[in-house]
Amino acid sequence: MLQVEDLHTYYSLAHVLRGVSVEVAEGRVVALLGRNGAGKTTLVSSVMGLPPAQVRSGSIRYRGRDLVGHSPHEVTRLGIGLVPQGRRIYRSLTVLEHLKIAARSSAADVPAWDSNRIFSLFPQLGERKYLRGGALSGGEQQMLAIARALMGNPRLLLMDEPSEGLAPIILQQLGERLLELKGAGLSIFLVEQNVGLALRLADEVHVLDRGQIVFRGTPAALEADAQVKQRYLGVG
Ligand SMILES: Nc1ncnc2c1ncn2[C@@H]1O[C@H](COP(=O)(O)OP(=O)(O)O)[C@@H](O)[C@H]1O
Ligand SMILES: [Mg+2]
Repeated sequence: MLQVEDLHTYYSLAHVLRGVSVEVAEGRVVALLGRNGAGKTTLVSSVMGLPPAQVRSGSIRYRGRDLVGHSPHEVTRLGIGLVPQGRRIYRSLTVLEHLKIAARSSAADVPAWDSNRIFSLFPQLGERKYLRGGALSGGEQQMLAIARALMGNPRLLLMDEPSEGLAPIILQQLGERLLELKGAGLSIFLVEQNVGLALRLADEVHVLDRGQIVFRGTPAALEADAQVKQRYLGVG
């Protein structure tokens, strides 16, 4: 579904991604772990076509198409939904307004997602549909960021640190919702610093360090690799 091959991405002179290859097959959850500054968001920006990240060489293919040079809007219309780092919720728009805007930009003829289906996945958002973004808790804002991406009817969901700033109990609930989405057949590329969430969801794990992939394997293999966990993730 998504194939990133030998990717080199820059911010003007800064060479940040140095030969990254990652693949997400249909219906799979693939996690990318790494410390702050490793280049995780840069990879997400490269896939989405978000400046100022600049792909200089390598390829990004999505369902057989080359994505390099496409605008974020085009990438979204091709079926990749982004849940950005920091959530990017509008403080003054209501929950329902966020969903309506996202639905309008969907490319699907027969939308799989509408607000009713969103509210059955996230009942809390349904109860708060007339509240403004600024009045939501951090966990609710994260759910809304995911809901907004789903309204575009993506085949692949890119999530950049959805666990950031969430209390353990909220994180637990988020994990359950994401497992439901996985069960519904959605492909997910999960970028995280939170090892626990990634191990719980992922079929396959990659570890990024200073712009290079330093580990790839199953969650169990990462779990068993004390050296990688300690050296690159600061856990264990
Ligand atoms: N807009 C930018 N301009 C210049 N350098 C950037 C920009 N965004 C990120 N960087 C640099 O790129 C590197 C990787 O950052 P990032 O992809 O945000 O890491 P992560 O998401 O893993 O924390 C860091 O050294 C960071 O300082
Ligand atoms: Mg980041």
